[in-house]
Amino acid sequence: MSDHPLPGLVTTSQQQQVTVVEQEQLAKDTYRIRLYCPEIARQIVPGQFFMVRVPGCSDPLLGRPFALFDVYEENGEVVGLDFGYVIVGKLTNIMATWQPGQQVEIWGPLGNGFPEPTGGSLMMIAGGIGQTPFLAVAREALGLFQYPNRQTDTLPDKVTLCYGARSKDYLAGLNMFEQPGLDVQISTDDGSMGHHGLVTDLLKRAIDEGNAPDRVYTCGPVPMMQAVRDICLEANIPSWLSLETPMACGFGACFSCVTRVRQPDGEWDYRRTCVEGPVFPGAELEL
Ligand SMILES: Cc1cc2nc3c(=O)[nH]c(=O)nc-3n(C[C@H](O)[C@H](O)[C@H](O)COP(=O)(O)OP(=O)(O)OC[C@H]3O[C@@H](n4cnc5c(N)ncnc54)[C@H](O)[C@@H]3O)c2cc1C
Ligand code: FES
Repeated sequence: MSDHPLPGLVTTSQQQQVTVVEQEQLAKDTYRIRLYCPEIARQIVPGQFFMVRVPGCSDPLLGRPFALFDVYEENGEVVGLDFGYVIVGKLTNIMATWQPGQQVEIWGPLGNGFPEPTGGSLMMIAGGIGQTPFLAVAREALGLFQYPNRQTDTLPDKVTLCYGARSKDYLAGLNMFEQPGLDVQISTDDGSMGHHGLVTDLLKRAIDEGNAPDRVYTCGPVPMMQAVRDICLEANIPSWLSLETPMACGFGACFSCVTRVRQPDGEWDYRRTCVEGPVFPGAELEL
């Protein structure tokens, strides 16, 4: 293991019981939940995440990680955050029953987040629920929201979201991605909406047509992210991957979330996804 700082690295994260404000179904088995949590919401940046837990519950005992979907404001002040989730197991089944007014336990913000937007063109490539970080990334990159702790001197001149899902029933929150200036391209495995095929075809098409993006951010199933990373390496496009590695503690203590990265000397080493990630440069990762 390399000499990385242990939990003290996460100095600004907080653990709190917070209130559910609302819950909305976005697609099949997929929901958006809004939490009132001003302190955490004012510190978080796109690509960071937080852990969620049922207070006082031993099954599941451990929290689960969820990415920032968006922050929300009241009277011009950031007071809370939204996250999007798909039902897969124990906690997400419980979460779908949560009602406004309910208390839940969260801690965060955690992880590093995506790099701050810069000039040139940015393409975000999302597979399934991997779309959740990209509303916040897009709104920041388009200059529609300024995170207080980020410097965004130069914005991208083009921002594209390529969003792929199994079928149109699983495309979540498409209306929320109707942001001024955002180019949204859809693909479905069954052809029920948008391009019939893989979301990576949209990246290949852009490259073939001479519209290669200057940088790519991606999140979704590992095989999809591997494909995005490989296409980008071949086309010499920098990419950043947001990993959804299962996690136990979320703050660097348990090493349950390690991933392999290549070091400058060509050797492999391990990084904890929860503190050194979840966003890693594609060129450095072995998935
Ligand atoms: C940094 C980060 C951000 C994430 N953001 C989101 C988000 O915004 N929205 C969202 O819906 N999900 C997100 N996830 C994934 C989410 O944490 C899992 O879906 C969640 O932990 C499932 O909890 P559960 O108790 O419902 O399922 P469990 O009962 O824990 O598991 C159900 C099944 O899913 C499998 N599983 C659980 N977690 C994962 C995983 N991460 N990868 C592959 N298989 C898994 C288990 O092996 C099991 O088969 C994120 C994960 C990470 C690491
Ligand atoms: S989840 Fe415990 S070290 Fe990352």
